[in-house]
Amino acid sequence: MVKILWNDRIINEEDVKIGFEDRGYQFGDGVYEVIKIYNGDVFTATEHIDRLYESADKIQLVIPYTKDVLHKMLYELIELNEVKNGQIYLQVTRGTSPRQHNFPTPAVESVLTAYTKETNRPLSQLQTGVKACFVEDMRWLRCDIKSLNLLGNVLAKQEAVSKDCFEAILHRGEVITEGSSSNMYGIKNGVLYTHPANNLILNGITRRVIFACCEEIGMPVVEEAFTKQQALEMDEFIMSSTSAEVMPIVSIDDQMIGSGTRGQWTEKLQQAFEKKIPVSVGI
Ligand code: PDD
Repeated sequence: MVKILWNDRIINEEDVKIGFEDRGYQFGDGVYEVIKIYNGDVFTATEHIDRLYESADKIQLVIPYTKDVLHKMLYELIELNEVKNGQIYLQVTRGTSPRQHNFPTPAVESVLTAYTKETNRPLSQLQTGVKACFVEDMRWLRCDIKSLNLLGNVLAKQEAVSKDCFEAILHRGEVITEGSSSNMYGIKNGVLYTHPANNLILNGITRRVIFACCEEIGMPVVEEAFTKQQALEMDEFIMSSTSAEVMPIVSIDDQMIGSGTRGQWTEKLQQAFEKKIPVSVGI
């Protein structure tokens, strides 16, 4: 029987009751996290929980449990579901109340749900790399919030998939921001370039792990936006996310990046990343 975290209780899946006037369902009024489980351990749990509370704070949503309680509940959930390798999806909405755009007054209790899923690492794609394409970034101006409003991301990913691509590289005008569900980086002459963590991108947890890896392998990081043209001229290109890890992008809009295969810096970054995760499957 699959167990679900529902507010501060772990219950059977069929006992979960979500109101049809839940504001997450009607307005996308909530925040979420996707967290990786490696070898029965929650990877970068503290960072994800901190970012969840930060996102909630930015939309004035109060999560009525401490970070410590949530941390413990997530471990309990993966233990009960016996997940060894996979992920946790966690979301918190502003709760259920009669539909109106402004916040409910008085405030209602937020609704937290979290569940686990067994997943495999994308091992072969981490070696061969993936194709991507440019898609206009049409999202709002608070992409730093990990909000449930994902229609802009959904449409961008759908466009990429319809072009047989793994990911959409979003751009505002000529400037690359991030991916539809990932961060983007170019590597030129041994330097890693990526968009600064401002309101136009989500400051990925994997992005932060990558910065630590760069430090370890002696690769300078420049947090500066670059253009579509500069992207095409990079020696190597990568995307990162909780599920895709450090993923090589070997072509953009069918134009080969560098040699069109995983580059040497990318491989070094992947090896450094691999050392940080509590399982070594090898890539
Ligand atoms: N997406 N940018 C966007 C828009 C994202 O949705 C994500 C993550 C990232 C990378 O963040 P992190 O390294 O913390 O996973 C960047 C998750 C995985 C998702 O929505 O499935």
